[in-house]
Amino acid sequence: MSYRDEMITVALGKGRLAKKAMALFDNIGLGVEEIHDPDTRKLIFTNEKENIRYFLSKGPDVPTYVEYGSADIGIVGEDTILEENRNIYEVFDLGFGKCRMCIAGPESARSLLDSSHLIRVATKYPRIAKNYFYNQKHQTVEIIKLNGSIELAPIVGLSEVICDIVETGSTLKENGLVVLEEVVPLSARVVVNQVSMKMKNARITEIINALQKEIRNAD
Ligand code: PRP
Repeated sequence: MSYRDEMITVALGKGRLAKKAMALFDNIGLGVEEIHDPDTRKLIFTNEKENIRYFLSKGPDVPTYVEYGSADIGIVGEDTILEENRNIYEVFDLGFGKCRMCIAGPESARSLLDSSHLIRVATKYPRIAKNYFYNQKHQTVEIIKLNGSIELAPIVGLSEVICDIVETGSTLKENGLVVLEEVVPLSARVVVNQVSMKMKNARITEIINALQKEIRNAD
């Protein structure tokens, strides 16, 4: 049995990252045609010839599937890796999906971002927000977990500021908010299950090397 006979499972977070990631796998000859069908409701896609399959999950669940070994490889944003804090190997930076984790709010909230104010911070990323305010800024804040449309919070008075992803900046701009501080720059990453890295090392290394080569050539 060759190492190429081992089935590899790849977890992709649904959405923009998945599309770009699948294009990469297409380019290295491991893609699956059907995954590009916009009407499909299937969640798992197998390339039988190459012994590789892909599944689409919610982004924040990708590190969970990879930690437990349901997926050998995952493609996920650095924001999710930091927030989920799972036991997985972060192997390399794909260089796309670039954005920034920021503290944002109305310009008037800028003066509240020093350690003396107890402010409320709305976010989908409580771990990242807590780490930033408590460990980096040494400011005690109240963190309010939301599940989306975070920009609403300071507008309707739920919080003074938000901790959220900024990509183009249009959502902030259209809602009269500005970036007040940058927490960390982000991009898409390849993550690998720790056991798979040992047990399927030859296959995984081959896939990773091909992906890295493809990324370098695209630059
Ligand atoms: C993300 C993020 C911002 C927006 C930033 O939300 O939370 O709201 O994108 O992008 P921009 O800087 O290009 O405007 P997403 O669209 O993922 O939806 P969500 O509000 O449900 O989190």
